[in-house]
Amino acid sequence: MNKLQDLVPLGKTDIKITTVGVGAWAWGDRMVWGYGGSSYDDSDIRAAFDVSLENGTNWFDTAEVYGFGKSERFLGKFLPSATKEVLIATKFFPFPWRIRKTALLHALEKSLKRLQKSQVDLYQIHMPFGRWSKPAYVSALADAVKAGLTRAVGVSNFNTEKTRLAHETLQAAGIPLASNQVEYSLFDRSIEKNGLLDYCLENNITVIAYSPLAKGMVTGKYGPENPPPGPRKRMYPPEKLQRAQPLINLLKEIGTNYSKSPAQVALNWTICKGTVPIPGAKNAKQAAENLGAMGWRLTPDEVAALDKASNELVG
Ligand SMILES: NC(=O)c1ccc[n+]([C@@H]2O[C@H](COP(=O)([O-])OP(=O)(O)OC[C@H]3O[C@@H](n4cnc5c(N)ncnc54)[C@H](OP(=O)(O)O)[C@@H]3O)[C@@H](O)[C@H]2O)c1
Repeated sequence: MNKLQDLVPLGKTDIKITTVGVGAWAWGDRMVWGYGGSSYDDSDIRAAFDVSLENGTNWFDTAEVYGFGKSERFLGKFLPSATKEVLIATKFFPFPWRIRKTALLHALEKSLKRLQKSQVDLYQIHMPFGRWSKPAYVSALADAVKAGLTRAVGVSNFNTEKTRLAHETLQAAGIPLASNQVEYSLFDRSIEKNGLLDYCLENNITVIAYSPLAKGMVTGKYGPENPPPGPRKRMYPPEKLQRAQPLINLLKEIGTNYSKSPAQVALNWTICKGTVPIPGAKNAKQAAENLGAMGWRLTPDEVAALDKASNELVG
């Protein structure tokens, strides 16, 4: 399959995104990802950006809160030298003190300044906190489109009911809800079980799968004897990593059929389920590997076998 066939519409918009985007949370984040430590530096981040474009992606996901604005600033620095069109998705964080509707437009203007752009391609509400999941506030997203500050709008971490409300509110304003960005991986299948994935697919709302590598756990490089560093150690305790071993072994085994790594197989599985993953990459090697999830597909039998192995882990 040609990589060009890995372009899909973003919801009901005329924007076309590649089936794998790149998550830029780690680009400046110290707390979870250890930016500023010894594992990766600014030159690794720059290389991850360049190699991502060389390997066929056309979009990056960031947020105003990632690295307290650093992630957007990195992108703002890199974008002018990009040799092809790059689409940017960023997010509004509903801090409890942001109670006025206009807060969303003001935050977006600040994001645009950091990104050195006059418009983003997708603007998302990061999570459904308090008023920001209510129709009056979701309609601030419509204001952002009408003001020409974003081409499309989406939500993140919204459950089915809140997604339906956002979808209907925006529809009334003549604007489609383009996407819902939610956690989805072989380690977290909640959206399959609670009906959100089906609802979004039925309504042409793109499901953007975040943490699609389970924060690195599906790559096979971590295990009970080699736990991940930092806060990830608590998120994925040794017992869970031990129970994940049959799944990791299956990812390796399936990968040999295609000369693909466990990470590439795990990402391909999320694509086969109708979602678009945004794996994070701290360096060029990770970026290139993750984008190798495009251009081919697992068979239905392989998807079913991965479902079964993952069910044994997540129940
Ligand atoms: N909307 C939300 O609430 C929300 C929440 C979380 C994430 N997100 C978005 O989703 C994106 C991705 O999620 P995520 O960063 O949480 O997790 P992820 O994509 O599942 O994992 C990324 C991490 O896995 C490791 N890794 C990546 N590629 C690898 C490879 N090929 N081989 C080995 N290790 C590899 C790297 O960490 P190490 O090298 O340190 O292991 C990397 O930082 C974020 O950047 C962000 O844009 C959104």
